[in-house]
Amino acid sequence: MKYDVHLPGPSWSENENKGEDGDRVSLLTDQTAVVTGGAQGLGYAIAELFIAEGAQVVLGDLDLAATEAAAKQLGSDSALAVRCDVTKADEVDALVAAAVEHFGGLDIMVNNAGITRDATIRKMTEEQFDQVIAVHLKGTWNGTKAAAAIMRENKRGAIVNMSSISGKVGLIGQTNYSAAKAGIVGLTKAAAKELAHLGVRVNAIQPGLIRSAMTEAMPQHIWDQKLAEVPMGRAGEPAEVAKVALFLASDLSSYMTGTVLEVTGGRHV
Ligand SMILES: NC(=O)c1ccc[n+]([C@@H]2O[C@H](COP(=O)([O-])OP(=O)(O)OC[C@H]3O[C@@H](n4cnc5c(N)ncnc54)[C@H](O)[C@@H]3O)[C@@H](O)[C@H]2O)c1
Repeated sequence: MKYDVHLPGPSWSENENKGEDGDRVSLLTDQTAVVTGGAQGLGYAIAELFIAEGAQVVLGDLDLAATEAAAKQLGSDSALAVRCDVTKADEVDALVAAAVEHFGGLDIMVNNAGITRDATIRKMTEEQFDQVIAVHLKGTWNGTKAAAAIMRENKRGAIVNMSSISGKVGLIGQTNYSAAKAGIVGLTKAAAKELAHLGVRVNAIQPGLIRSAMTEAMPQHIWDQKLAEVPMGRAGEPAEVAKVALFLASDLSSYMTGTVLEVTGGRHV
């Protein structure tokens, strides 16, 4: 028996992603993305890959000079720097408004800004706990809320939240960070359910040990300990997280929402 199946949303075929001359068509042509914490590390790598795939990107980060330098490196036609502290709702609102004003819309929001304030619970101060919760959990909530307000009107959009494997398994010295990163998973799933019928998808990434300023600040013996837990036997590169962010931001993942993808080289599976 032959079934005639009509699926909603973009279809996929072998040739769909090819141009007339057979070259691969970019995945994010003319789309606008906001990346928080985009001045360096994973955020910068995500912005770089999105631009290579045809997007314009607004980088939101704390230090305007560093963010402007990053945007300049990415090319001023495709990247805009905005000073933004993600813990402040009004600054996040201004960040997404800048994307609409400067590039004419908002298709993708990557809530990536982050800090660590590691200490065992005996030594961790209340301030260190509050800071980490504010940047990761409140920051991601601020970004999701601001982006969703625009995306729901357009009936399309993809939000990608940066969690961590620390939020899945809990890591020593990270009661603040593990709590925030686990919270991002709950936030992602709840927002995915609220926004699905509006055409807005919300997904999360849990990176493991990725080479960046955040992890290079780690004492060597801690780095070695973590590396020993990675079945693939090496740390990941920011570009390898960026490829997964591209997948979740693009129509390649058109039927995925509320999911959490681990990018860990097999660590803690
Ligand atoms: N590197 C890893 O191994 C790893 C693993 C798992 C998760 N992550 C997560 O990936 C994200 C990026 O981490 P990274 O390794 O690139 O770190 P990074 O320190 O290199 O970059 C983080 C960026 O966030 C910015 N930032 C910090 N607080 C901010 C705030 N309040 N408002 C706006 N920007 C702010 C910083 O200025 C910096 O540019 C973080 O959420 C981090 O928790 C990283």
